[in-house]
Amino acid sequence: MLRIAIVIGSTRPNRQCHTVAQWVHTHAGHRQDADYEILDLADFSLPLLDEPVAAAMSNDYARETTRAWSRAIAAFDGYVFVTPEYNHGPTAALKNALDLLFVEWNDKAAGFVSYGLQGGVRAVEHLRVIAAELAVADVRIQVALSFSNDFTDRQLHPHPHQEEILNRMLDQLSSWATALQTVRLTAQNTALTGAGFSG
Ligand SMILES: Cc1cc2nc3c(=O)[nH]c(=O)nc-3n(C[C@H](O)[C@H](O)[C@H](O)COP(=O)(O)O)c2cc1C
Repeated sequence: MLRIAIVIGSTRPNRQCHTVAQWVHTHAGHRQDADYEILDLADFSLPLLDEPVAAAMSNDYARETTRAWSRAIAAFDGYVFVTPEYNHGPTAALKNALDLLFVEWNDKAAGFVSYGLQGGVRAVEHLRVIAAELAVADVRIQVALSFSNDFTDRQLHPHPHQEEILNRMLDQLSSWATALQTVRLTAQNTALTGAGFSG
């Protein structure tokens, strides 16, 4: 069964992100295409990048906090990143969590759910550039919840069309996450047989 993590991208006290992620989880739970699980960055208490070697160079991590994060992320086939917009970018907590790992993200798929005055779309544009560098295939459809249309008195009340957009995003995500399982399997088999090095 495909496993998709719904990553809570804000660690702020009184964050809205938890409620938004719960909304995603509730609707994703009605689907049969994958197991959807919430992954809360706040549970990992990740320090600001404190690894002596960049993850792209080695995944032999020095810190137990990184190793725990690595185990969690490696277990999933795809991710829904839930993020607010902070100064037209994603949260520093999410950027840091992305930077800490490399191979665990590679050849996986991702979709985005953002929120903000303009739906948090600028945060997602940043994340798409970062995803490319991590070899994450980010799907086109994104959910952008706006404070004026999808929140009332700072409580999440998404316009009904947002549920349909969420489902279309998850359709793309599960399709790409399934396809990329084959890519990762092929890469593993190639490494096991040593293809490319035999005469
Ligand atoms: C440092 C900071 C910067 C922010 N910058 C933006 C912004 O650029 N655009 C926007 O729409 N909202 C911005 N906001 C408002 C946030 O979208 C709002 O506080 C939201 O609830 C944050 O998500 P969270 O509660 O899950 O942390 C900013 C908030 C903070 C704390």
